Amino acid sequence: MQVVEETRRLQERADQVRVAGRRIALVPTMGALHAGHLALVDAARAKADEVWVTIFVNPTQFGPNEDLERYPRPREADLALCRQRGVDLVFAPSEPGFYAPGHQTWVQVSDLTQPLCGQGRPGHFRGVTTVVTKLFLAAKPHVAVFGEKDFQQLAVLRRMTRDLNFDVEVVGAPIVREDDGVALSSRNRHLAPEARSQARVLVGSLDVAERAVREGVSRGSEILARVRAELARAPLACVEYAELRDPDSLETCPEALSGPALLALSADFPSAEGGEGARVRLIDNRVLYPHPHRQEPPR
Ligand code: PAF
Repeated sequence: MQVVEETRRLQERADQVRVAGRRIALVPTMGALHAGHLALVDAARAKADEVWVTIFVNPTQFGPNEDLERYPRPREADLALCRQRGVDLVFAPSEPGFYAPGHQTWVQVSDLTQPLCGQGRPGHFRGVTTVVTKLFLAAKPHVAVFGEKDFQQLAVLRRMTRDLNFDVEVVGAPIVREDDGVALSSRNRHLAPEARSQARVLVGSLDVAERAVREGVSRGSEILARVRAELARAPLACVEYAELRDPDSLETCPEALSGPALLALSADFPSAEGGEGARVRLIDNRVLYPHPHRQEPPR
């Protein structure tokens, strides 16, 4: 497995691989790799000849009160996991080095970044789209794989790729969950023990909504009332949002749901480090299908 730290070197390697007629699948990460990332690597493997992972804790997607400093950076463990999983190349630029001094160019997707996480994290998606653009231009991939846990991020990156005519296929990979259903996240390790057990409330609420839909409930307000009642069972969870949105446009769903609806949840929980304001933000989501579309037989 090759480890590359310089952008120029990566671009040269990408050119060589492309000239040889081989396809590159990119898995952008911020490191602290877990089984969810390894599932992205496996999905990438199915799409290309070479799997490249990027490890870069991107400062521009963190807000001033977010956890940039304490974001874990277990470089050697991450490289070992990539090696074991058969990754061909890791791009791990130095943190100050990937952005040129005096960087002042940004890539921004407008409407899709406004709701949900965009409300509580102004500037976050601008940082994500800018760094992913830089990674696309550095690695020149044919395919890029992102997790569906960050549903809004995936929607934003798909739109950016389409709007800017990047010749990259953006692939979403299903959420990977721990044994109790909690979605895998590098943040889970920061949860206080009691908060970790209450974090299950997110997936539990998605299950409640799915059951309601299966029972025939198709009023958005009724589904959300059941979801909020479930979330309230976890007193340590401070809910940021619980919303039903159109999975493509991320616009608010009509009260009478008639097609697929994204149920998106975000809540923060006390962190193991404790202290005033030390909270861990978790997100989860599921697409609900209130009226299964029946396939008309061909005439
Ligand atoms: O999902 C992430 O880990 C990050 O937002 C990404 C896509 C690697 C950009 O820094």
